[in-house]
Amino acid sequence: MAIKAKNIFVCSNCGFESPKWYGKCPDCGEWNTFSEEIKQVVPSTAKQKLDPLKSGSSGTSIEISSINQIETEREHRYLTGLSELDRVLGGGIVKGSLVLLGGDPGIGKSTILLQICQYLGDEALKILYISAEESKYQVKLRAKRLNVTSDNLYLASNTDIEAIINTIQIQKPDIVIVDSIQTVSFSVLNSSCGSVSQVRECTNLLARLAKSEDISIFIVGHVNKDGAIAGPKVLEHIVDAVLYFEGERNLSYRILRAVKNRYGSTNEIGVFEMKDNGLAQVENPSLMLLAGRPKGVSGTSVACVMEGSRPILAEVQALVAKTGFGTPRRNATGYDYNRMSLIIAVLEKRMGYFFGNLDAYINVVGGLRLDDPSSDLAIAVSLLSCLTDTCIPEDVAVFGEIGLAGEIRNVSHAAVRVNEIIRLGFNKCICPYQAAKALPEQMKNKIQIIGVHNISEAFKAIRPDNA
Ligand code: TYD
Ligand code: MG
Repeated sequence: MAIKAKNIFVCSNCGFESPKWYGKCPDCGEWNTFSEEIKQVVPSTAKQKLDPLKSGSSGTSIEISSINQIETEREHRYLTGLSELDRVLGGGIVKGSLVLLGGDPGIGKSTILLQICQYLGDEALKILYISAEESKYQVKLRAKRLNVTSDNLYLASNTDIEAIINTIQIQKPDIVIVDSIQTVSFSVLNSSCGSVSQVRECTNLLARLAKSEDISIFIVGHVNKDGAIAGPKVLEHIVDAVLYFEGERNLSYRILRAVKNRYGSTNEIGVFEMKDNGLAQVENPSLMLLAGRPKGVSGTSVACVMEGSRPILAEVQALVAKTGFGTPRRNATGYDYNRMSLIIAVLEKRMGYFFGNLDAYINVVGGLRLDDPSSDLAIAVSLLSCLTDTCIPEDVAVFGEIGLAGEIRNVSHAAVRVNEIIRLGFNKCICPYQAAKALPEQMKNKIQIIGVHNISEAFKAIRPDNA
């Protein structure tokens, strides 16, 4: 059967294929992500022969099992020694799973994976760390710095996926780390290393290997905005879990987030701090996020949001200043821009404050992103506090969702949130009226809870003099 090769253009962000080049991908909307690749085409006559519906029942049939015959204890998990990572994974690494760890270059992906090798090695698991970017010597240097000295950790430096797969089949490790997927290649494919077809094919091979050999495999994928190499987005549907490591490179805090997880929730986050000897877990993120809060300044408030099952307190800052231009500027860091415009519109319409000639900026301190609508109230009171130059007392925390009528709507997990607010030493909590009513009495003895119906009640309650 003659197989011809054809030149096609592929989006490195989403994998969309097209016979012609586009500046903007018609599928995912990203710019400058198209690159040329060679695709092998099977001629249509050969395709007909391959059609399973037409070729009769010559193929083998597959084994089927009743759902009740399948043992559920099979979901065996390995703990990593980093409880923040275990939580994001849904309770540890599932045996036979393929996990993609994505993130910007230099964020700490190789560091965290090398760090967990010590604990896993101590648990008598055989680990194979395949570096396709660094030499064994370089990995060893890093391991030394991280105090990773386990005898069960084996290093290899190779970029050929066939050789890697053969080695895994022979060595039979329990855990494999491939760093990174963009630097390994499959010699059968003509396209260059890091292209969409290479990355996709190599991941497919590893996914099949993980399932057939019951080995847990981690692959590292760099996020590349320029689209020069294929990004982790192309792989999301192949792997079992996708974790993203986020954070500002110049800040030491890193947030690990699950974007997809077949074995756990995608709401959980893990917080780490990059130190001289590797990543340290931040078990109390609220304390970290609230450290260095300015005192006696208007425009800042403390929000309590839920990140998965965990309540987190974060400082929300707002700045409102006279605009120098015809159209006022609006900017939100760590918060949705459109949601901020909506809250400003509610404050204008329902409370009579005017932002039309004012620039407004929102910043969530510490690089956190607030997606939970319960942070609305903190955004609104910060904006009002700055606009009216009223300081919000330091010992007040707020949570609540804002509706278009200016009402404060109830949110979930009120008791969990209030507990965290009490734990961090706050004296006053402003929350939706229904949430306050439902709280247990003993909680109300520990902190002053003010349930509010609307935004004006909330702002009144928050002022130091309650004026
Ligand atoms: P790395 O894990 O190599 O990033 P990635 O694999 O995601 O590209 O992390 C590299 C950064 O981390 C680098 O800027 C140096 C810093 N770092 C530390 O601060 N402390 C350490 O102990 C290590 C190993 C790295
Ligand atoms: Mg790396």
